[in-house]
Amino acid sequence: MKNGFLYAFALCGALLASCSGTQETKEKAFLPPLMGWSSWNTYFVDISEDLIKKQADAMVSTGLKDAGYKYINIDDGFFGYRDSVGKMTYNAERFPNGMRVVSDYVHSLGLKAGIYSEGGDNTCGSMYNAEKTGIGAGFYGHDQQDADVYFKEWNFDFIKIDYCGGKELGLSERDRYESIVKAIRNTGRTDASINICRWAYPGAWAANIARSWRISWDIQPRWSSIKYIIGKNMYLSAFAGNGGYNDMDMLEIGRGMPRNEEEVHFGIWCIMSSPLLIGCDMTSIPESSLELLKNKELIALNQDPLGLQAYVAQRNGDAYVLVKDIETKRGKVRAIAFYNSSDSACDITVPFKTLELGGKVKVRDLVKHEDMGTFEQQMSCSLQGRSVLICRMEAEERLEPEVYEAEWAFLPLYDDLGHNPRIIRCVQSPNCSGGVRVGYVGAKPENRVVWKEVYSEKGGNYELGISYCTSKKQKIQVAVNDKEYVLDNLSSGDYNKPAVATVDVTLKPGYNVVSVGCDYAWAPDIDKIELKKK
Ligand code: GLA
Repeated sequence: MKNGFLYAFALCGALLASCSGTQETKEKAFLPPLMGWSSWNTYFVDISEDLIKKQADAMVSTGLKDAGYKYINIDDGFFGYRDSVGKMTYNAERFPNGMRVVSDYVHSLGLKAGIYSEGGDNTCGSMYNAEKTGIGAGFYGHDQQDADVYFKEWNFDFIKIDYCGGKELGLSERDRYESIVKAIRNTGRTDASINICRWAYPGAWAANIARSWRISWDIQPRWSSIKYIIGKNMYLSAFAGNGGYNDMDMLEIGRGMPRNEEEVHFGIWCIMSSPLLIGCDMTSIPESSLELLKNKELIALNQDPLGLQAYVAQRNGDAYVLVKDIETKRGKVRAIAFYNSSDSACDITVPFKTLELGGKVKVRDLVKHEDMGTFEQQMSCSLQGRSVLICRMEAEERLEPEVYEAEWAFLPLYDDLGHNPRIIRCVQSPNCSGGVRVGYVGAKPENRVVWKEVYSEKGGNYELGISYCTSKKQKIQVAVNDKEYVLDNLSSGDYNKPAVATVDVTLKPGYNVVSVGCDYAWAPDIDKIELKKK
C-alpha cells in the first residue's frame, strides 16, 4: 500500500517538474498562445491561393500583424491526391502553383504559415463537406511521408491535426498524436507548433507534444456556442501552463454577434489564454470588431509571460469571477473577469480576500481602457445579461491563500475523451463551495487530486481541512510534499453534502505539493482543502 502511495507521489513530483507553473515560471521563457487567422470559420473548404494571399495582405494592412497576430493558417480544403508512391499532393484547382508558393508569400510578409491534417485516414471534410479528396488524406500510414511534405517541402510552421478519421477507425488518440509529432520532429522542424484537434480535453500527455489542444466541439457565431465553450474550459486551468494551452477554437469576432457577446468572447479567450485565431474575413472586418481584436490590454493578458489560465474564484449562480496572476507570480497585480453568463442583468460583489488581494486596490477596465478608481475590502459591479467586465487589479498586499478548490487542482488521469465512464472529473454539486466537486478519486495510486502550488510565505504548522463527500465509509490518503497521512472511516452521509476531516501538517516556505487520493479503493469525492495557520 505504502509503496503505491509513494509511487503516486513521485509521479506527481515528475508531473510537477514537467508541466506545472512553478516558482521558476518567471525565469522560463514559454511560447505564448498562438495568434493568427484561420480559413475555416468563414470559408470552410472553399479556399484558394488568391484568397489566402489576400487574407495575409489584410492581416498586415489592418494593423492586426502589428497587434501580434502572426499565423496564416490554411485549414481543410487544400488536399489533392496521393501519387503512386503515396505522397500527398495539393488541390491543383484551388492552389494552381502549389503550397510552397503560398507559404513563401506568407513568410515574405513577416508572417508564419500553418497547415492542417488528420490523425486517422479520412478527413472531417470528406465526411461533412463532401470533399472527396479528403478520403485517405490523413497521416495514418503516412506519418513520415506527410510530415516531410508539410514541413520540409512546403515549409509550414504550424499544423492543426484533426481526428474525424482517427475516431472512425477507433485508434488510440495518444498513440496517433505521439507518432505524428515524432515524425514532425524527425524532419528537423523542432520549432513547428502543433495543435491537437480532438474536440475534448485529451489528457495530460498532450502537454508534452503540443502547444495547444481543442477542448470542445466546433465553435459557431452565436451566443449558445460561446457560452458552451467557456463552460467547458471553466475547470481546466490546471491543465494549461508552461507553454501549453487549452484551445477554445477559432474566433467568431467580426461575424455578426452583438458587441456585448463579442466582448465576452474575446475577453474570456484572452484571460483563459486560449490561442487567438481570427476566423472572419479580414478584408472586411466591422470597425468595432477590429478595434476589439486589436485591444492591446486584453491581448497582454493572453500573451502574458506567466502563461496561466484564469480559474473560477467565485460563483454566484450564473455569474462567475475568474482570476489569474499576470506579470509576476504571486505578485500584487492580477487579472480578473466578472462574467455574467445569463440572459438577465445581475450585480456581483467579490471580497478582495477571495482574490488574495489586500489593502487598497486600484482597478482598471481593460475593455474600455479606463481606470475605475481605488477600492477597499470588496468590489461590486452591475452587468447586463451576456456580458463581462475584464480588469487589471493592483493591490497594496498579496495575501496568503487559505482555500484551494478541488476544481483548481491538477488531475493526472483526467481526460474528456469519453472512453472511461469512471474517470476522475469535476461534477456540479450545489452544496459544495464553488458549486463543484471532483469525483472518481482513488482506486489507483496515481489517480489523485493534486494541488501543485500550495503556498506558505514563511512555512510552519497548519491545520489542513479536507472537505469531502461520500455516503459510504471511505479512506483518504493525503500527501504533503514527502509526508503521508491517512484519514480513515470518513463519511459525510451523502454525496451532495460535504463534511470536513482535519489533519495537522507542516508546510515549507514557498510552494508545497498537496495531493489526496486512495491507492487501491475509491476515495470520497473532494470539494476543497482549507489551511489554518496554527
Ligand atoms: C473539424 C474541426 C474544425 C475544422 C473542420 C475541417 O470539424 O474541429 O475546426 O478544422 O474539421 O473539416
